[in-house]
Amino acid sequence: MAKLAFNIYVTRVIPAPGLEILRQHIARVEVNTADHILSCEELLQKVKGRDGLLPLLTEHIDGEVMDAAGPQLKIIANHAVGFDNIDVKAATERGIMVTNTPGVLTDATADHAWALLFAIARRVVESDKFTRAGKYHGWGPMMFLGGDITGRTLGIVGAGRIGATVAARAGGFNMHVLYCDEVPNPKIEQELGAKKVSFEELLRDSDFVSVHVPLFPSTHHLFNEKSFKLMKKTAYLINTSRGPVIDEAALVQALKQGDLAGAALDVYEEEPKIHLGLLALENVVLTPHIASATIETRTKMATMAAQNLVDGLSGKRPANLVNPEVLGKA
Ligand code: DGY
Repeated sequence: MAKLAFNIYVTRVIPAPGLEILRQHIARVEVNTADHILSCEELLQKVKGRDGLLPLLTEHIDGEVMDAAGPQLKIIANHAVGFDNIDVKAATERGIMVTNTPGVLTDATADHAWALLFAIARRVVESDKFTRAGKYHGWGPMMFLGGDITGRTLGIVGAGRIGATVAARAGGFNMHVLYCDEVPNPKIEQELGAKKVSFEELLRDSDFVSVHVPLFPSTHHLFNEKSFKLMKKTAYLINTSRGPVIDEAALVQALKQGDLAGAALDVYEEEPKIHLGLLALENVVLTPHIASATIETRTKMATMAAQNLVDGLSGKRPANLVNPEVLGKA
């Protein structure tokens, strides 16, 4: 089969099956093989003359980058479900398709939210460090006391695909599930007995608050000084969505003064920078944005992004188009 005479750029090495799809269908595929995130200057340089881009959430693709690529740019196939790194409005104005990778990372992300929940409530990281440091000299009745999980209340902020999947796993621990979302989720209400409440009610009544909202201007700093004051002093906060949903300075302050018991985070306000206050606290678990990082999931994300890109370039409607209105313009 003849390859499509297009020229595309992949901003970082992705799992091989994704690259194979691209190389099988597209004549010119360049991949950034340097194991680092491209600087803005490198990105502006590298996108020049490309018909398609396959970026990661680490690349901020705005109008300037699109213009640097040139008017032939047809599609930006993000290797992530979140697409807050792409200025979709600017893309649509330029007739550029934007795609994402929904669904395939739902389970892995939900699993990681639970890993964080367990790690923070049962002080897994803290006690691992203690044990490795040779400080374990015998069982102690007051050693590393954490919080109960079974039978407690889990509050889900954002009950879309991932939030609902986190909620579904709560049944195994006889937990009560509360959720808040602009849109009701009748499935989790019927199947799990989840109750839709206001954000404030959820904060007041939950023992664990797990965040699953996309980053929008309306969710930026949704968690701030005021929200932390509403939480139970024994509650834990888990975030696997986007860092800027939480005001990190306010979180550090709240943790220091005991407004909540702990936080477990996979995402940060200014990734990869992490607030120094968070690094200094013991009642915090930090992972480097790895919620979707299983071999199987990252492979599915790579093949999905690659297929979206190939479909877009070959004139088909990509399955995961986030700006369908662009087709009316093209
Ligand atoms: C996403 O896809 O948006 C995650 O944050 C990374 O997998």
